[in-house]
Amino acid sequence: MPARHFITLDDFAPDELKRIVARGAALKQMHEAGTRYQPLVGRTLAMIFGLRSTRTRVAFEAGMSQLGGHALFIGPADSQLDRGEPLEDTAKVLAEMVDAVMIRTLEHADVERFAAASGVPVINGMSNTSHPCQLLADVQTFNEYRGDITGAQVAFVGDGYNMCNSYVRAARLFGFDLKVATPPCHQPDLEVLGGANNAHLVNSPREAVAGADLVVTDVWSSMGHEGQEGDRLRAFAGFQVTRALLDVADKDVLFMHCLPAHRGEEISGDLLDDPRSVAWTEAGNRLHSQKALLEFLLC
Ligand code: CP
Repeated sequence: MPARHFITLDDFAPDELKRIVARGAALKQMHEAGTRYQPLVGRTLAMIFGLRSTRTRVAFEAGMSQLGGHALFIGPADSQLDRGEPLEDTAKVLAEMVDAVMIRTLEHADVERFAAASGVPVINGMSNTSHPCQLLADVQTFNEYRGDITGAQVAFVGDGYNMCNSYVRAARLFGFDLKVATPPCHQPDLEVLGGANNAHLVNSPREAVAGADLVVTDVWSSMGHEGQEGDRLRAFAGFQVTRALLDVADKDVLFMHCLPAHRGEEISGDLLDDPRSVAWTEAGNRLHSQKALLEFLLC
């Protein structure tokens, strides 16, 4: 049987995604209670990082360790990929040696090429079009504070890049309503947006946030946008999420940011300290949701 991969959220059915998110919450409770749970003894995850990471790397590495397995870090200059060995050859070799591979690289097509050649599960650790692991943590975090995200009103303000595209997919798969406010030249993938009846572009951050249960943003210059910072600062003027903007949302609104954040750009300097922000819990839930994903793929 071919290996299951997690390249975008669409690789899993809605009930599978919901099961992983719920399992992440259960694994968090077990971890906090000090329960030892090690179903992955003797199993190895190779992690290929063509781009930098704090949360994704640490969550997978600590997660594999807690589950009894081992995670192997392969940085940008650590393998023969850096000297031109084809992705497909690398995928076939790693599949002979490890049980799963996580890959973070800029070009989404490269993640797809790698997965197509791999005989073991491949996880997208973030590409230029998709960040599915982050959405598992975000949905787990919303559910933890407010109950099932199904039917919630969600606002995405800022760059229509990988996080925004993943929110559009999540709106369809988890059944929440999404309003997206971006500058005209920075909209999400319109093909992805067209597939989601419950995700819509709106004209302003205020329109997106009005009445929202959850407000989300991301940096204005992501990895891959090097050299565009000045143009982007100008393009995104007026799209900063502030305490005043959250005041037009529902009184119980939550704010999330996948991090790292650029205070003074996509968020005001004080926003992560606002009681409505759950960004630290969201970051911590990367550990538990990724453990649930590893368990789903490997057990
Ligand atoms: N949110 C996120 O993916 O963080 P890292 O880039 O630090 O992994």
